[in-house]
Amino acid sequence: MKIAIGSDHAGFELKEDVRKLLEAGSYEVLDIGTHCDDSVDYPDFGIGVAKLVASGQADRGILVCGTGIGMSIVANKVRGVRASLIFDLYTAIQSRKHLDANVLVLAGRITGKGLAEEIVKTWLSTEFEGGRHQKRIDKIDAFEKNQDR
Ligand code: RB5
Repeated sequence: MKIAIGSDHAGFELKEDVRKLLEAGSYEVLDIGTHCDDSVDYPDFGIGVAKLVASGQADRGILVCGTGIGMSIVANKVRGVRASLIFDLYTAIQSRKHLDANVLVLAGRITGKGLAEEIVKTWLSTEFEGGRHQKRIDKIDAFEKNQDR
């Protein structure tokens, strides 16, 4: 599985932890930065990762900023992206089972390394249930296609 990851300066340290975790597993990692803790703008990296997922160049994306809010807002602007800001294991599971979330967003200034790693492992290994949930996602897709008309 190919996973695109990105962060701003506030998410840099946790993004590095996530990258090491993924590289130690069987994942191919596309790390688009940032690559140090100098101040940068989260949209530059959120859009980058979201586009890689939306275009199919990555299977999933993981984004980290300070609160996770900025990255969630910007990633969900990209058509086809269902980004979920996750703070616990229950919502990590539900975001996959019911929402087929394709981008995981973490809060580098809130969520500690240990919990974040459990969230990442759980989120990556939980399958979408389909069925009635697919019908709801189809409605989101239809809205995205028609909203400019
Ligand atoms: C950066 O200071 C901070 O605003 C950003 O990382 C994020 O928390 C925005 O949602």
